[in-house]
Amino acid sequence: MKILITGGAGFIGSHVVRLFVNKYPNYQIYNLDKLTYAGNLANLTDIKDKENYTFLKGDIVDAAYLEGIFAEYQFDAVIHLAAESHVDRSITDPLAFVHTNVIGTVNLLNVARQHWKENMDKHLFYHISTDEVYGSLGEDGLFTEETAYDPRSPYSASKASSDHFVRAYYHTYSLPIKLSNCSNNYGPNHFPEKLIPLAINNIKNERPVPVYGKGENVRDWLYVLDHARAIDDIFHRGKVGDTYNIGGVNEWRNIDLIELLCDLMDEKLGRPQGHSRKLITFVKDRAGHDLRYAIDSSKLMNELGWEPSVTFEEGLSKTVDWYLENTEWLENVTSGNYTSYYEQQYTDR
Ligand code: NAD
Ligand code: TYD
Repeated sequence: MKILITGGAGFIGSHVVRLFVNKYPNYQIYNLDKLTYAGNLANLTDIKDKENYTFLKGDIVDAAYLEGIFAEYQFDAVIHLAAESHVDRSITDPLAFVHTNVIGTVNLLNVARQHWKENMDKHLFYHISTDEVYGSLGEDGLFTEETAYDPRSPYSASKASSDHFVRAYYHTYSLPIKLSNCSNNYGPNHFPEKLIPLAINNIKNERPVPVYGKGENVRDWLYVLDHARAIDDIFHRGKVGDTYNIGGVNEWRNIDLIELLCDLMDEKLGRPQGHSRKLITFVKDRAGHDLRYAIDSSKLMNELGWEPSVTFEEGLSKTVDWYLENTEWLENVTSGNYTSYYEQQYTDR
């Protein structure tokens, strides 16, 4: 089987690519990535020379490019992760999110539909999305697969739009699709603009740790490898046309999470307890900041037997260790040097 994974040089995509390349040596895995600021081939150094792995540098907004690679490689399936993914960036530049997340997704759907039309049912378009499409919860309740869409940030609006297009292609053109909506991920290779890696980096360097508003917003955190495992399960055993919610059953208020992280890092760095908490700095709140996300994954658990394999304490500890050990990765992505890694290792198609 030939699988095109988009966004495979990013945070979650790199874990999905690695899992598929290592677990399924008979599959050919093609990783299509534009290598934006968030894409980093250093995330995949350990598998880059595997025989069943090919990297393709390209932009999903470029329909002619997609046409060319579909004609050349004849993919059987797509797992689509490429996206602009940071809410704060979407507030300053919404159009970039429309381009990649909406137009890029529709380009992929179009090219898949055209190339697969003779034997549509032998193919699969699996779209990776976020629980943020459901909007914001109050103190109670969970997002289910039936929760009405109510996106509130330009990021979640663009992801919601892409989800709608994916379902529209299923209903209108019988394109076989699957969809999953996952809660906040954390773990190795996470770009340090998102809360957990940003906080780890700042605590390490004794810089202020910005907490938006009063830090009362709640997120449900899932270790990234457990998301990759869920994607594997859904890709192979999920029902065509269906949506699956994926979450960690692990809700944290931002301030509690940051305090936990400060204490954990004090322990690991041999600093006196309470030292890093002094770095916590409350800053202006994010515009339209969603109060709470929490997800009901019982469909995925009951139908496919998936459950998180890593507790939050284990996952956070492994994540901190990874960032403390991988100082070069962290320095490269924070200085921007990683963009030249591609030029050193690969030539343009
Ligand atoms: P990321 O920002 O780390 O990675 C995105 C990748 O997509 C990068 O490698 C980037 O170079 C690539 N990319 C961006 N624009 C592209 C384009 N036009 N053409 C080709 N490649 C392009 O994102 P992530 O956190 O790994 O998220 C991956 C997917 O999972 C996204 O679709 C996101 O919406 C979804 N998701 C993320 C989370 C989370 O907590 N991070 C949770 C649920 C769902
Ligand atoms: P983030 O990691 O950007 O993910 P998302 O907005 O997609 O949930 O943010 C997680 C939470 O942390 C969110 O409530 C915003 C908050 N936050 C801060 O308090 N400080 C920060 O510096 C960042 C980046 C986020």
